[in-house]
Amino acid sequence: MTITESSSRDGLQSLGAFVPTAAKAGLINDLSRTGLRLFDAVSFVSPKAVPQMADGAEVLAGVERVEGMTLFGLVPNLKGLETAIAAGVDGIGVLTAASDTFNERNINATVDESMHRIRRILLEVPEDLVVRGYVSTATHCPFEGEQDPDWVAHLAETLVEWGVHAVFLGETIGKATPAHVDRLLDEVLDVVPVEMVGVHFHDTYGQAVANTAAALGRGVAMMDASAGGLGGCPYAPGATGNVATEDVLYLLDGLGIEHGIDALAVAEVAQAFCADHNLPYNSAAGRALLASRARE
Ligand code: HMG
Ligand code: MG
Repeated sequence: MTITESSSRDGLQSLGAFVPTAAKAGLINDLSRTGLRLFDAVSFVSPKAVPQMADGAEVLAGVERVEGMTLFGLVPNLKGLETAIAAGVDGIGVLTAASDTFNERNINATVDESMHRIRRILLEVPEDLVVRGYVSTATHCPFEGEQDPDWVAHLAETLVEWGVHAVFLGETIGKATPAHVDRLLDEVLDVVPVEMVGVHFHDTYGQAVANTAAALGRGVAMMDASAGGLGGCPYAPGATGNVATEDVLYLLDGLGIEHGIDALAVAEVAQAFCADHNLPYNSAAGRALLASRARE
């Protein structure tokens, strides 16, 4: 399983209080010492839409590069692509949602319009950048309810045809259960090779670890996770953070799946970050690991 760490982007984007640039870069640097190498690091979006992400280029400049590190920036349009390239990203995430209402609130575009934007980005993107295509609201939209897995699979297939290297299915509001994940993957895996599919689960209803297990059972080997369960989306009211990286690592350890990351070290970094920034620390496995360290 390859984990992409999302705490500095999805983890922070919804926060009202601005997290200083050095602290964002410091979070990535500290997490890279735990074995994490792939980072959904920053966004290159409108600073009016998401003020917290206004310092994407400066954050990347503060990251100490280590071997194998891949820094992704989320890019909603050509302007974002330009700034992302200038900032030295290794990869980009392009995005659409499955539902028009969420997409319009999130990136001011219908699904058709955002697919068109993605097409234009893909025509311009330098060959050496890794490109991930996100399909948000892949099972549920906060405004339109349950989504049709066939439609999501169609979007995923189209993105792959257009040249993305991987499609990430975004369970934006954390409402899905493993049954929803299975139904979605039934359709997506019919049209996209499993090695090109990643998952991105939020944990609002406490289902994200179960959903991760469901995706693992289908052979999915790429996912996003966020240390300390940090996160949310400014345009998905009530949605909480991503599945906690520590919780995923504990699951993977139990299943004997390699990942190369030190779960206790992730918990230490995330707990300290949450304490410094007055944020709740939301990893059950992390809390337990920290407590057993304290007992030793
Ligand atoms: P718009 O208003 O239609 O854009 O917003 P516009 O082209 O009309 O430009 C409006 C202003 O934004 C202009 O500035 C542009 O220069 C500026 P002004 O002239 O008013 O001063 N602008 C930009 N500035 C910096 N970087 C850019 C950029 N583009 C325009 N790239 C837009 C459309 C997409 C820009 C806007 O809606 C936006 O930035 N949305 C981003 C929202 C966002 O970041 N949401 C959270 C990330 S998605 C997510 O979290 C889901 C995910 O985690 C998966 C899951 O959970 O499902 C990935
Ligand atoms: Mg998200």
